[in-house]
Amino acid sequence: MSIRIKLLLSFTGMLVISLLMFVLSAALFTIAFTGDIRGVRDFYKVHYQLNPLTQQEESIFLELKYMAKNEPDKLLDKQLLADYDFKLRTVRAGLFVRRESNPVFESYTINQPELQHALPAYDLDNNQIRNTFNIGERFYAYAKFDFKYSDGAKGGVFVIRERSPFAELSRRLLPILSILLIGVLVIANMLLYRWLTRSVVKPLNVLRKSAERIKEGDLQFALDLRESGEIGQLNESFESMRQRLQQSVELRLRDEESRKELISNISHDLRTPITTIKGYIEGIRDGVANTPDKMAKYVDTIYTKAVDLDKLVDELFLYSKLDLKQVSFRLEPIDIVSFLDDCIEELRYDLEKQQIDIAWQDKPKTAVPVMADPEQIKRTVLNVIGNSAKYMDKPEKRILLSVRPDTEMAEVEIRDNGPGIPEEAVPYIFERFYRAEPSRNTSTGGSGLGLAIARQIVEGHGGRIGVNSELGSSTSVYFTLRRTTDDKEAANRT
Ligand SMILES: Nc1ncnc2c1ncn2[C@@H]1O[C@H](COP(=O)(O)OP(=O)(O)OP(=O)(O)O)[C@@H](O)[C@H]1O
Ligand SMILES: [Mg+2]
Repeated sequence: MSIRIKLLLSFTGMLVISLLMFVLSAALFTIAFTGDIRGVRDFYKVHYQLNPLTQQEESIFLELKYMAKNEPDKLLDKQLLADYDFKLRTVRAGLFVRRESNPVFESYTINQPELQHALPAYDLDNNQIRNTFNIGERFYAYAKFDFKYSDGAKGGVFVIRERSPFAELSRRLLPILSILLIGVLVIANMLLYRWLTRSVVKPLNVLRKSAERIKEGDLQFALDLRESGEIGQLNESFESMRQRLQQSVELRLRDEESRKELISNISHDLRTPITTIKGYIEGIRDGVANTPDKMAKYVDTIYTKAVDLDKLVDELFLYSKLDLKQVSFRLEPIDIVSFLDDCIEELRYDLEKQQIDIAWQDKPKTAVPVMADPEQIKRTVLNVIGNSAKYMDKPEKRILLSVRPDTEMAEVEIRDNGPGIPEEAVPYIFERFYRAEPSRNTSTGGSGLGLAIARQIVEGHGGRIGVNSELGSSTSVYFTLRRTTDDKEAANRT
């Protein structure tokens, strides 16, 4: 549920409760003061009086009072009294007249045996002419006037009206009810507040704490994503931000690690030939190469090492340029089949010297034009074939080439019957400086940059490079190149 709806609900709730409280207390006050539930209707009347009798009752009472003052004996006339009582009964009140302690007239509406005892004693001063009394559970309000009959007997006339017991009860319960209502209001408020705090403030606090943890560099935690609504969305965004941050931190650490490794590898590979060169030069300087033969051997070694160094620096430079995407490939349509034929021709002499047989396994009958930078692709092919020759360990040495044209790409495969590559090394051989044989012995291997450069070149052409190997029997390196549209057009034409 959204915060907006929650707020709306809680505030509407508060409003409804306050209004209810207002209406209820207003009603209760009115009932308490007027003594009647009907009094609520008169609540807004300005001339509201603290009078238990209605206006009609009051005027009848005044008539009777006037009569008691001037012609008291008329209040013995039962017929007259019955007439007044009739009038009073129409407005739900009743008449009671007494002479000494005997009732002269008693309205049947208030015909109660205990009535006599409930009524106040005779008081000619008429100090309190309006009051209430109760008989058991029933409540009454009255107006009374005490007088003397002409013979001096004490008389009293009462206009009595029964009041709702509820009104009396509410008047008594008013303080309790008010306290109860205030209590309900406070509790409702507290519950609403708790609800709001739990659903909004608490998750916000969790977010704040998480942000602080991130600030401290701690990214190893996960946010609880069970919450829904805006808070849930905020949590999700926060969590994805944390994950991205964590990834970038990990990436940075990995980069840092590989940079360190690169530097250490470069230093190692540079130091080895330099140490050798230094050693041989010292030998010459100290006169160890004292014969022309020795001298020639020393100089040859120094030269070979310098060439190695030169090659390594070249490879490093090329790799770093490829890595920084600073090499622009001059793509042109070439027929990969005749291109590979040229490569074979170029290498045949060298390979024959090593008794390695190189041949086609799968030669397409027609030309297979691909988009490629001939110089770079040649480097790749020579690198791969160079590896096959370098690592070959069989008496019968064979390298086989094949080209498999597809609709979009053409795949070139170079397979040898050499030692194969251990399964655990396969995922890494295209990484820079990786060599399956870790001693970094320069007599068997190079710097480990060959296949890394090949991958950069092939991927720069929009292709893919991979390896399939069976340990002990064969290695097959394949790469793909994009075919030219020219070729497809040519195919369409024929
Ligand atoms: N045809 C193959 N047969 C067996 N192992 C191979 C073959 N080709 C590559 N490898 C393994 O993969 C590793 C990586 O090859 P890569 O060409 O990148 O490096 P390198 O040949 O050691 O050095 P460089 O090519 O820079 O002189 C090699 O060290 C070798 O262990
Ligand atoms: Mg190599």
